[in-house]
Amino acid sequence: MATPFPLRLGVNIDHVATVRNARGGAYPDPLRAAKIAEDAGADGITAHLREDRRHISDADIDGLMNVLSVPLNFEMAATNEMQAIALRHKPHAVCIVPEKREERTTEGGLEVAREENRLAHFIAPLRDAGCRVSIFIAADKRQIEAAHRIGAQVIELHTGAYCDAFSEGDMATHARELNSLTEMAAFAHDLGLEVHAGHGLTYDTVAPIAALPQVKELNIGHFLIGESIFRGLEPAIAEMRRLMEEARA
Ligand code: PXP
Repeated sequence: MATPFPLRLGVNIDHVATVRNARGGAYPDPLRAAKIAEDAGADGITAHLREDRRHISDADIDGLMNVLSVPLNFEMAATNEMQAIALRHKPHAVCIVPEKREERTTEGGLEVAREENRLAHFIAPLRDAGCRVSIFIAADKRQIEAAHRIGAQVIELHTGAYCDAFSEGDMATHARELNSLTEMAAFAHDLGLEVHAGHGLTYDTVAPIAALPQVKELNIGHFLIGESIFRGLEPAIAEMRRLMEEARA
């Protein structure tokens, strides 16, 4: 068994912007949430600037680059517009995600294997600019091998199907998905990729993922922002950290 790495928590603040945008005003402010997340022990902040700007705005990204003391993980689709924005800001990390306008959230992983050539050319300037390039993919050997071949340094394994199966009470699928995530985390790590995971994680689903020894970072947003309505953002994050550390130990 590999020695576990310390596990980082990236807090995704997109849905603070979703609530703000419901009224089109200035609050709640995602930058304020990011600073509270830092104080609560987040190792990084994650934000997804979508093509349709449905939550995070360009001004939010400008602001985050100015105020953060922890690294920004900039989630983006593989488009020329987003590449130009990333190259202007040069965040610590970029995570390339699939994006379809009609989806409610990022529903599946990126199809890297089918777009290998284009993606290799797409990420090269981002790597050259010093960004760590992560690719958001399903726990699928073909996709992991392709991510490795195109020169990504990191993969983020999509935990959405694992979490959905849990909330639907489909424990057979839940166990099967966990098994794939376990095997593919080890496979990717053996190829030399840094392994992250995220999407849909909650207090009920985080422990088995946090316990995977090859996983170095979890990115968690929607549940934490929802939970903060009831207990406040700082305690909501602190509890997630506690569960991650307990699982890791
Ligand atoms: N990781 C990636 C790559 C994502 O696209 C998202 C959602 O924006 C997350 C993690 C966080 O997912 P959630 O908001 O469901 O915790």
